[in-house]
Amino acid sequence: MTNSRDLYFDHNATTGPTQEVLAFCQQLLASWGNPSSVHASGRGPKVLIRDARLHIAQLLNISPLEIIFTAGGSESNNTVLKGAWLAPGRTRDRILIGTTEHPAVIKAAESLVKLLGARLDWIPVNRGGQVDLAKYASLLGPDVFLVSQMMANNETGSIYPVGKMCKLAHAAGALFHTDGVQALGKIPVDLKALNVDYASFAGHKFYALKGSGVLFVKKGAPLEPLIHGGGQERGRRAGTENVLAISSLGLQASHAAEIIPQGERLAKLRDELEQRLMGTLGNIQVTGGEVLRLPNTSNLIINGVDGEVLLMNLDMEGARVSTGAACSSGAQEPSPVLRAMGLNHLEAQSSLRISMGWETTSEEVEKLGDILIATIGRLRALQVGNATASAEAVVAP
Ligand SMILES: Cc1ncc(COP(=O)(O)O)c(C=O)c1O
Repeated sequence: MTNSRDLYFDHNATTGPTQEVLAFCQQLLASWGNPSSVHASGRGPKVLIRDARLHIAQLLNISPLEIIFTAGGSESNNTVLKGAWLAPGRTRDRILIGTTEHPAVIKAAESLVKLLGARLDWIPVNRGGQVDLAKYASLLGPDVFLVSQMMANNETGSIYPVGKMCKLAHAAGALFHTDGVQALGKIPVDLKALNVDYASFAGHKFYALKGSGVLFVKKGAPLEPLIHGGGQERGRRAGTENVLAISSLGLQASHAAEIIPQGERLAKLRDELEQRLMGTLGNIQVTGGEVLRLPNTSNLIINGVDGEVLLMNLDMEGARVSTGAACSSGAQEPSPVLRAMGLNHLEAQSSLRISMGWETTSEEVEKLGDILIATIGRLRALQVGNATASAEAVVAP
């Protein structure tokens, strides 16, 4: 539960719905009919879904017919990997995916290997977090069926050269999917210019309601539906639509022109915060700081501090951030993303992710900076104290 004391800096995990979305919800709930009904109760919801589709198509520069509404990013990613594989006519059997992909891509690809005999290769990144295009090109071959490379990374914010990678994949005769979940609302996304075959998005990372997602499927790209049933989404994803969530995403898409330009302001706030922390505390590295990254995201390695301990201490101070130290299952495994970038166990264990939102103010960033400086200083001093105490214990007679 968040309250006014909260300093919410975890927008890459999820975003709160805007006031406008919340106000709109009441109105949307009144439109509770089934969009497939031909009588009057179905007409309102049908129009809401149509309008949402139009706004999203405009935002992404695609045709409304190329959109399949899903329940979120994980469903969109799974639908592409499995649905493209299962579609009739496939002759190739190798898949390439980024080493820093979200588990919804990694595990879907691994299930294709385990259950359906796919062969899988990984597109490496360097320590800066960027894809090595020459190495990527060397992995492409006449047996590659699909490449999946995210637009931007959820942990470091690194932005990948998706347009160039897609061009290379197409030249090798492969299909191309991009997970755009973290890019939506943070940087402009023009799917026509990128020329990808498939793209995934989630409403809850874009100030809309949870339970809304978008899967872009370029006209003519192969896709076997995973959910069979009614004819919703032109037979490509059966089930009565989540009208409320879909409409909230459409509403946000219609406001993208106000949200996306905030990136410039956020990047400045982020850079100032990083400079302040590095200058005041020292021994802090910015992960992926040298490569192009999302304007709202800062991933720091704070030497001498355990990320999880820091997170809990910050939480007690009202500052909500995230760490790459724990995976979603709660296991204390350092982030596979940071490990894939070549960071060692200790570095990955000392990482902290700060992610801002379009409404984040400079006062909030200033306050977060004060809390971080005080808390990290205290934890580091404790560590020194403990180390001295244990050294004395060893030498004591
Ligand atoms: C890059 C990326 N892809 C996919 C997902 C999964 O999205 P969802 O939670 O909507 O299923 C996330 C969520 O964190 C993400 O960051």
